[in-house]
Amino acid sequence: MVRIMSARENILCVGLCCLDIVSLVSHFPKEDTDQRCLEQRWQRGGNAANNSTVLGLLGAKAAFLGTIADSHEKRFLLDDFAKYGVNTEKVVVCKGCECSTSFVILSRASASRTIIHSNKNLPELSVDDFAQVDLTPYQWIHFEGRNVANVAQMIKLVREHNKGLPQGEFITTSVEIEKAKPELEALIPLVDVVFVSKDFAVFKGYSNMAETLEGVKAMAHPGAVVVCPWGEEGASACQGSEVMVCSPAFPPANVVDTLGAGDTFNAATIFALAHGSSLEDSIRFGCRIAGAKVGVIGWEPLR
Ligand code: ADP
Ligand code: FRU
Repeated sequence: MVRIMSARENILCVGLCCLDIVSLVSHFPKEDTDQRCLEQRWQRGGNAANNSTVLGLLGAKAAFLGTIADSHEKRFLLDDFAKYGVNTEKVVVCKGCECSTSFVILSRASASRTIIHSNKNLPELSVDDFAQVDLTPYQWIHFEGRNVANVAQMIKLVREHNKGLPQGEFITTSVEIEKAKPELEALIPLVDVVFVSKDFAVFKGYSNMAETLEGVKAMAHPGAVVVCPWGEEGASACQGSEVMVCSPAFPPANVVDTLGAGDTFNAATIFALAHGSSLEDSIRFGCRIAGAKVGVIGWEPLR
């Protein structure tokens, strides 16, 4: 099902791009106090945008598809995609909209990342936007789990496209089920590879990776790959009736920035799977790259 990368080695990431305003603080602030942060920076964010950054860093031909406001932040966001070699030709620029932003507090003491997200009026990608894209160059299309009704239609368009291709050339589809939102479940049966976060698993009442894989496998289509990262415990995955595979986490000497750890893991795992690595090697690679990422601020030092 998962094809080995060949001439068509593009990976398209569909979902959110926003501006992250990241403040690094020594300790998470007490309510109604006033303190200076150690450092503050702008960073391009959004799960799909982060996935494409990591794929670009790993040397894949990565592309991003999503909406971007036609506001003054647009230049920063598009320039930053370009720094990582991510193709943004298909991005939908929305006139008269405000940039979607996240205010992020990174605590040096606990290594936590607290995100306060805002979207005033930036529309989600429409099915029509997606239908305009020529899917021929892509080997793999990864969807962020959001905008559920539209994304379900987009995945169906990819499946229709696949019907016209020889089996070995099908585009592989994956989805990330991250947020604790019940409507995301509708996307699970539609794709070849499902990434399920610990947050979603806990929301569903699963208490560990094995329970999560069993539960999600029952909702996925037969033979689908299900992958579950679990913070410092690493990650596990399964495919069909095959035995579950596991990888430990690879903690760096100091954990300094956990923002986007899951996005990094998912992208690196997709990269390895798309290159034909086994499921076990792929999640191990995902954990190694995510471990390296949490040891540095942002992604720039991983270049
Ligand atoms: P998120 O909270 O961003 O959704 P997770 O916390 O599940 O993501 O982490 C994803 C992956 O990142 C894990 O599988 C692990 O490999 C790596 N990771 C996360 N936190 C750490 C950590 N403190 N030390 C080492 N690796 C980590
Ligand atoms: C990290 C992230 C941030 C963004 C937020 C949106 O996973 O994509 O970059 O602000 O999540 O939920």
